[in-house]
Amino acid sequence: MTAAETMKIGKGVFITIEGVDGCGKSTQAARLCEWLENTWGDRGVLRTFEPGGWGGGMLLRRLLLDRTLLDGTALTSRTELLLFLADRSGHLDAEILPALERGQWVVCERYTDSTLAYQAWGRGIDAEEIDGLLSWCRFPIPNMTILLDVDEETARSRLSLRGKLDRMESEPDAGFMARVALGYRELARRYPERIVVVDADADVERVAAQVRERVEERLRGERT
Ligand code: TYD
Repeated sequence: MTAAETMKIGKGVFITIEGVDGCGKSTQAARLCEWLENTWGDRGVLRTFEPGGWGGGMLLRRLLLDRTLLDGTALTSRTELLLFLADRSGHLDAEILPALERGQWVVCERYTDSTLAYQAWGRGIDAEEIDGLLSWCRFPIPNMTILLDVDEETARSRLSLRGKLDRMESEPDAGFMARVALGYRELARRYPERIVVVDADADVERVAAQVRERVEERLRGERT
């Protein structure tokens, strides 16, 4: 267990949703929040996302994802990593930690597992080095992470329906997304007590039902 894995958070419940581009994260985050509001809404629900889910975050999001903004200057892997961490640090201070302190549900699309899957497995930066940075940043560990697992073909065809691809989605390295997917599966193997894997190839309703079941199971487990 890494140092980052041993940190604890306050009164709220922190759930992250992860997966490769095109896995259906946003749709499932919306469905989960709707269900949480209706079933357990007295706590209040914060739905948020990375990169960019706070006041200064949209500038960082544009810097990271807008293909035209940097006018041909490539971001190196190291700069990209540091910008994702800076975004998370601001996001935690401004949004996530205050909501958890208030005792709310926080549902966040992407978090530290994205950094490990994309920047370690995808870009090839040493995973232990990234773990060290995550610990230094004191990023709290989610209570639960839902990994939406899709096969490459499904993800690709969902992305092609979107039309315009961002900088990460148009990565020229053909093996990039496969390595990211592998990274996610490896993380799920390493942290089975935190990460639940949901088969996200099925239709939206079935996936949403599975996500709800897994969250309920986890809540029951934590109360006993
Ligand atoms: P996302 O918001 O999921 O894109 P979209 O809204 O188009 O679905 O994610 C933005 C991209 O940033 C995605 O390709 C994953 C990548 N990313 C990282 O590489 N590392 C990180 O730490 C985070 C948070 C995201």
